[in-house]
Amino acid sequence: MCNNLVMEYVKFWILVFCTFTTISHTSAESDEDDDYLTFPPGFRLGAGGAAYQIEGAWNVSGKGVSVWDTFTHTYPQNIKDGSNGDVACDSYHKYKEDVRLVKEIGLKYYRFSLSWTRILPTGYPNVVSKDGLRYYNDLIDELHRNGIEPVVTLYHWDLPQVLEDQGGWTNDEVVNWFGDYARIVFTEFGPKVKIFTTINEPTSFCREGYGHLNRAPNKDLDPCGTYLCGHNALKAHARAYHIYDREFRPTQNGKIGIVFACPGQIAKNPGDEATVDTYYQFTCGWFAHPIYSEEGDYPQIMKTRVAKNSFDEGYFRSRLPVFSPKWIEYIRGTADYFGLNHYTSVLVEEAPKERETILDTGIHASVDSSWPDTATSWLKIVPSGFGGILRKIRDEYNNPNVFVLENGCSDNRTTLSDTQRIEYFYSYLKEMITAIKRDGCNVTMYSIWSLLDNFEWNDGYAEGFGIVQVDFKDPNRTRTPKLSVDRWKEVVRTRKLQPLNPTIEDASELFGHQGRKRSAKC
Ligand code: GAL
Repeated sequence: MCNNLVMEYVKFWILVFCTFTTISHTSAESDEDDDYLTFPPGFRLGAGGAAYQIEGAWNVSGKGVSVWDTFTHTYPQNIKDGSNGDVACDSYHKYKEDVRLVKEIGLKYYRFSLSWTRILPTGYPNVVSKDGLRYYNDLIDELHRNGIEPVVTLYHWDLPQVLEDQGGWTNDEVVNWFGDYARIVFTEFGPKVKIFTTINEPTSFCREGYGHLNRAPNKDLDPCGTYLCGHNALKAHARAYHIYDREFRPTQNGKIGIVFACPGQIAKNPGDEATVDTYYQFTCGWFAHPIYSEEGDYPQIMKTRVAKNSFDEGYFRSRLPVFSPKWIEYIRGTADYFGLNHYTSVLVEEAPKERETILDTGIHASVDSSWPDTATSWLKIVPSGFGGILRKIRDEYNNPNVFVLENGCSDNRTTLSDTQRIEYFYSYLKEMITAIKRDGCNVTMYSIWSLLDNFEWNDGYAEGFGIVQVDFKDPNRTRTPKLSVDRWKEVVRTRKLQPLNPTIEDASELFGHQGRKRSAKC
C-alpha cells in the first residue's frame, strides 16, 4: 500500500517534469545559463568516418567489389565531380595518421565502419581475407595504443556486389548473409571492441538506393522496394543483435545497437503537432518503433497510411510488409543504446499526394528561408531541431541511452577557416547539453562527423564535412587541420563550449592559426 503511494507520488512528479520541459522548453536559444555550455561528467566526445568514404584501396589484396565500387564506376555522372572512392583519403595506408589526429584533438573514441568485402571478398564466410582482418586489427590496436576506443559499424552502405546481384536488401536471405558476416566480425574483433553498431541509417540506403535512382545500388523499386529493404534491414539487424547477445556478450561484454538518421521536424503551421508526429514516424520511427517501443512493430500511423494507399491504388495487400508476431518479438528490444545521426530539420505541412516529400506521408517538407545555408543543399542550420529530436526520442521510447554518432556540417573545401562549422557545433552542442541537463535526455556520447573531408557520396569531393582537410589532388592525401580542430582541442580540454566571436574578422588571430585564408563562411 505504502509502496503504491510512493509510486503514484513518483509518477506524478515525473509527469509534471516531462510536461513542464516539453511545454515550456522548446529550444536552448533563450537560455544564457553557463551550465548549458559545459559537458556533464563522464560525457564522451569522438569523431567518425566510414569505410567507403575514407579507406580507398578498393581492389587491394583481393578485396571484393561493393555496390559503391560498381555505382561510382558505372555512373560517374551521378557523382557531382565524377569522382569515386577508389583512393579516397587512403586511410587504408594512412590510418596511423588518422589515429594521431584523433589523439591530438583529445577525443576519446573513433567511429569507423568495416568494409564487408575487405573482410569477406566473396560476400560469404567461405573466404575470410587475412589482409582484411590484418588491416582492421592494426587499426584497432593503434587506437588502443593511443588510448582511443574503437566504435565499430558493421555496415555503412557498401554491400558486396555479388549479394546485390541476388537482390541485396530486397532479398530476405540478406538476414542470413548479414548474420554470417556479423558472426565473423564479433569473433575476430569482439575481444577488442566494446561498442558495435550494426547498420548505418537504413532509411538512407533504402530510400535512396532502392526507392529511386540516386545512390547505390541505383534501383528504382518504389512504391514497394523501399519498404522491402527496410523490412529485411530490421530483421538482419535483429539477427546480428541476437548472435552477439547469445554467443558473444557473455565473454565480450560489449554494447550493440543500430544508428538512424533522424531529422528534426517543425510544424509549418504552428500547432500542427499531428503532422510533425507523422513525419517523425515515417523517418526515425520507421526503424526506431520496432526496436525501442514497448509494443514493437512499425508505427501505427505508417501501417494505417500505407495500407490505405495500397488498397486505394488497387493492391491486394499493404505495400508495407507485415511482421509476424514472432518477428515483432524478435526485433523488439534489440539495442543497448539509441544511435542517432542528426544534421538538420525541415518544416512540415499536410499536402496532397503530388506534393508529398516522402512516399505515403501526405506531407510536404520545406525549409525556412531564414535558416542559414551550408555547402550541402539539404543541410540548413537549425540547432533547435536537435533539441527537439532528443526530447522526442526521450518521450517516445522511455528515455533510452542515446549515442549521437554523427553531427556536423559541410564546407565547399576552399578554406581552412571554417568559422561556420565552429558556430554550427557551438549552437548544436548547446542544444544537446541543454536537452541533457534541463530536460533529462539520456545522451552520453557525441561524435563529430567527420574527422576528415572524405568521399561525400553523390557530392564526391566537392563538399567536405571534415574538421581536417584532405588534399585529394595530392597523391599523399595530405591532411591539414581546419580552424575547428583548434576549437575542438579547446573544447575537449576545458569541457566547455565557446562561441565564435561574431564580430571577428580574421578568426586565425583568435585561434592562433597562421596563414589561413580569410572567410566569414565555410
Ligand atoms: C550521413 C551518412 C554519412 C555522411 C553524412 C553527411 O547520412 O551516414 O556517411 O555522408 O550523412 O552527408
